[in-house]
Amino acid sequence: MGIVKVLTRQPYAVHIENDILQDVGELLRHEGKSVAKLAVISDEQVWSLHGEALQDSLKKAGLSAVSYCFPPGEAAKNLGTVSAILEFLASKELTRADLILAFGGGVVGDIAGFCAAIYLRGISYVQIPTSLLAMIDSSVGGKTGVDLAAGKNLAGAFLQPNAVYCDPELLSTLPEEIFREGMAEAIKYGVISDPELFEALLTWQTHDPLEPIITRCIEIKSCLVAEDEFDCGTRQLLNFGHTIGHAIERCSDFKIRHGQAVGIGMSLMAEIAWQQGWSKVDCSGPIRKALQHFNLPNKMTFSGKQLCDSMLRDKKRQGDQINLIIPEKIGKCSLKKIPVSQLPQLFG
Ligand SMILES: NC(=O)c1ccc[n+]([C@@H]2O[C@H](COP(=O)([O-])OP(=O)(O)OC[C@H]3O[C@@H](n4cnc5c(N)ncnc54)[C@H](O)[C@@H]3O)[C@@H](O)[C@H]2O)c1
Ligand SMILES: [Zn+2]
Repeated sequence: MGIVKVLTRQPYAVHIENDILQDVGELLRHEGKSVAKLAVISDEQVWSLHGEALQDSLKKAGLSAVSYCFPPGEAAKNLGTVSAILEFLASKELTRADLILAFGGGVVGDIAGFCAAIYLRGISYVQIPTSLLAMIDSSVGGKTGVDLAAGKNLAGAFLQPNAVYCDPELLSTLPEEIFREGMAEAIKYGVISDPELFEALLTWQTHDPLEPIITRCIEIKSCLVAEDEFDCGTRQLLNFGHTIGHAIERCSDFKIRHGQAVGIGMSLMAEIAWQQGWSKVDCSGPIRKALQHFNLPNKMTFSGKQLCDSMLRDKKRQGDQINLIIPEKIGKCSLKKIPVSQLPQLFG
């Protein structure tokens, strides 16, 4: 089994192992806490496919859980769902001695984590991610939250989980397109800090084991999170491809999916960085090759002006500065602050 320790203020372990879902009940019991009550938060899709296996695992360890499911997809990631879950937790009389299990993709993890952060001013939660993106990215690091009408992820809190249990076997039911989106984030980890991971992705084939790739991505994320838990500096390297990616998502009215948009964002950022003399080598070719390997797009039809306007509308930009993540070479990125007034020239 792979275990990655995340050394935040309250350290925790990420366990990565095929079929670990069967042992999650037992592992929770050995967590050291006498778990009085468990509440599983999931979406209807994940619950219908894997809910029984989770319940069996809990039962085997003498645990039982109440469960709350909402419809799958980003549209549910709002304060209405949070409110309904909080009422549910209260109706089941969960106390601060109890535990929430977030069982699903990034949407479930973000919502369940946010509910854990605010219910009774904070109770513990454990992540059991079921999508590739949730395994390698969103389940680790303690960013929780929901979307507002004004934009994505605008309300949230930091709360690290007590543990993360990753079962790569669960990915066998994940739709292909969503799996590939997760691979865009894996490529991102290669570009920001690991040329070997990047090379391994270029030759990865469908039936090759995923555990080593997932483990390596989590190691990279956990280092950056431990160094900068509250996202004030080096953790922002994880945003490589995201400033442009978010702009593309907004321009397309979210019809272009996140992973696809981030892929295009990485490729475009690499091109710009090379043109501007910010990179030591031109990373755009290798990045495009990696994206193609997973059938991810590397181009879009929006104009530079449309992208700039969308970036300026980004509610998370810092005043008149914008942070760009620059690939210096494959395996090394750096942060560059530029005045927003410079954007039109870069995207012209
Ligand atoms: N907190 C963070 O640090 C962080 C980081 C990155 C992304 N995110 C958030 O994560 C979300 C995206 O996550 P996502 O891509 O996992 O989306 P998601 O949770 O919507 O899952 C995508 C789809 O896959 C389905 N699914 C999940 N696991 C499955 C499985 N094993 N088998 C079959 N279907 C399965 C879900 O039901 C859903 O329909 C976004 O809301 C994003 O903002 C958060
Ligand atoms: Zn992302």
